[in-house]
Amino acid sequence: MELADYEKRLQELEKANRILQKKLERSEADRVDLEKTNDKNQALLKSVIRELEESKTTLEEKSWDLEQALKNLQAMQAKLVASEKMSALGVLVAGVAHEINNPVNFIYGNLIHAQKYTHDLLELVQLYQQYYPNPTSEIQEMIEAIELDFLCEDLPKLLKSMNVGTERIREIVKSLRNFSRLNEAEFKVVDIHEGLDSALMILHNRLKPKADHPGIEVIKEYGQLPPVECCPGQLNQVFMNLLTNAVDALDEGIRDWELETGQKVEEMQGMQGKSFSSISNSQSQVPIIQIRTEIIQDNWVTIRIGDNGLGMSEDVHSKLFDPFFTTKPVGKGTGLGLSISYQIVVEKHGGKMQCYSAPGQGAEFVVQIPLRQSIGDRNPC
Ligand SMILES: Nc1ncnc2c1ncn2[C@@H]1O[C@H](COP(=O)(O)OP(=O)(O)O)[C@@H](O)[C@H]1O
Ligand SMILES: [Mg+2]
Repeated sequence: MELADYEKRLQELEKANRILQKKLERSEADRVDLEKTNDKNQALLKSVIRELEESKTTLEEKSWDLEQALKNLQAMQAKLVASEKMSALGVLVAGVAHEINNPVNFIYGNLIHAQKYTHDLLELVQLYQQYYPNPTSEIQEMIEAIELDFLCEDLPKLLKSMNVGTERIREIVKSLRNFSRLNEAEFKVVDIHEGLDSALMILHNRLKPKADHPGIEVIKEYGQLPPVECCPGQLNQVFMNLLTNAVDALDEGIRDWELETGQKVEEMQGMQGKSFSSISNSQSQVPIIQIRTEIIQDNWVTIRIGDNGLGMSEDVHSKLFDPFFTTKPVGKGTGLGLSISYQIVVEKHGGKMQCYSAPGQGAEFVVQIPLRQSIGDRNPC
């Protein structure tokens, strides 16, 4: 090969080499570009993921906030409905009690004189009979027509039972007034037992034995309590709610017992102290409500209201204090009693409220109230 040929070949090779070099450089640049884009894409992806995660958390927070707001709204609505009902009912009850109070005192006051006068008149009649054993025929006819002997015997009894009746009306009126305690829109130092007794008095009709009901035995174990600072009307409402629930649970237990045994409750009459089988076949006593009060640590009062009714499932127990939660049929339960009671005890009085219960084991509600309120940080009733 000629030298010229070699040179030409060399030049060609150098050219090819340069081209290759350039191509290499370009692909290197491309690779770097690609890596850069890749990095950018990855960063973008990461930030998108981060943003998504952030917005997920925000959404979760928002939905929790919303849930809370809904719960608050429901509680507020419950409070409004209840306070509206309560105040309307309170006004009505206090009004009726006031109106009945005057005429009843009228009757009560005069009955004492009526008893005395009739006693005197009957004695006079006896004296007449003693000194004039043979009256004229007209008087004799009248004596027979009005059955004087029976009348003399029956009139004092009749007046006595009128007396008992009026005394009872007076007690009921007193309870109603005590119960509504409308004029007391502030913390008062009161006897808690009076409130419990008023609520029992108002519920008397649901507690006493009837033709189709054995009656509910109320066992009171009142401790030595000093007067307690509280909103009496509201606390009475709590007692009423708890006692009504206990009566409801016991009534339901009786219905179940009847279904299970095919017996009627009349057969339980007079069985006080003996036991009957409930639907779960567990042995439970005749219907009992137990109310116990005591003072603890010198500055708290505890009020326990227990029943030996049906008790409740864990599911019911967990929702007990939720507004509008009820297991009772429409028209019977509002589901407000316990949520309002909780609010009165815990928020109004800085107290505590708990329930101990299991299916077939009855239920016990424990209310604890401090003896004294630090009124400064709490609203008036
Ligand atoms: N003493 C009790 N025994 C069994 N269950 C009870 C008792 N007290 C309350 N409960 C349950 O708690 C629910 C809510 O009670 P409450 O708030 O007073 O509303 P309501 O009585 O209108 O249903 C009742 O429906 C019932 O299921
Ligand atoms: Mg209730």
